[in-house]
Amino acid sequence: MPARTPVKTLDAQRYAQTFAAFVARSYEYPAMTDRLVGFADQLPEGFACLDIGAGTGKVIRDWLACGGRRPERYAAVEPNPAHAAELHEAVASLGIDARVDEAPFDAAYPIPGRFDLVLFSHSLYWLADPVGCVRHACDALTPAGRVVAFLQGPFGIHPLYRLFNPRFDRDHPPGPHHGFSSAELVVGLRDAGLRPAVHFDPTPLDLTGLFDPGQERQRDEYLSFCLQIEFAQLPEPLKSDVVAYLHAACVQDNGRLLWYEPNATVVVER
Ligand SMILES: C[S@@+](CC[C@H](N)C(=O)[O-])C[C@H]1O[C@@H](n2cnc3c(N)ncnc32)[C@H](O)[C@@H]1O
Repeated sequence: MPARTPVKTLDAQRYAQTFAAFVARSYEYPAMTDRLVGFADQLPEGFACLDIGAGTGKVIRDWLACGGRRPERYAAVEPNPAHAAELHEAVASLGIDARVDEAPFDAAYPIPGRFDLVLFSHSLYWLADPVGCVRHACDALTPAGRVVAFLQGPFGIHPLYRLFNPRFDRDHPPGPHHGFSSAELVVGLRDAGLRPAVHFDPTPLDLTGLFDPGQERQRDEYLSFCLQIEFAQLPEPLKSDVVAYLHAACVQDNGRLLWYEPNATVVVER
């Protein structure tokens, strides 16, 4: 068992800041948008969507910007005040019937009515009982409805987090299921008697320039999000170990430096 190094876990505001640095280098979002446009085409006329852990509203904004079918009713759950502020602005600009709740979702959350699409976009890591939350969402589906969860596959950040997290002595825990992937979700859902389908999209993370001299601040912000710690404060040699691992996990492709991170989509129907 390696010695554990004291580290500071991100607070809600730092989470929101480092998340922005992460999203700026992610190819996951266009793939998620394509999937949402496709799902919307299969839903009934006037469909309703519940977006759990809606973040800044980027997902709903990008989706509706594609010009596909729009939800007639949209409800979002987002407890991080920094994200909720951006989400309120995003939905106000979209001209849809929207409601935003800043209370946290859990397996006993009072879901307001029935929904055709319940979306967990990279939010299951934050829920104490992810499988119980998906089951709870299934109970609120219309007969033709589906739960869609976007989350990391067991690649990329998943092994990085699981390799280094045991070496940290945190000042407080991160979200309850950081390090959770589609692999654990699918097994948990099957054990709960559900029949999930899983799809992967080839969605690398673009780390071009991140290891160049002078880019240490950007690199540290990025790794702060991946590991949910204040990475800049990590002492040597642990800091160099993480950087060397991440750099070695990347490949060059047409002048870009890519870290392979296939995004997973897990779908559960009633
Ligand atoms: C990785 S972000 C994803 C945001 C957005 N859905 C996206 O895909 O860009 C996870 C989000 O889940 C939110 N979250 C954390 N705990 C939550 C809870 N108990 N219920 C609902 N959302 C939660 C966080 O505040 C954060 O905005």
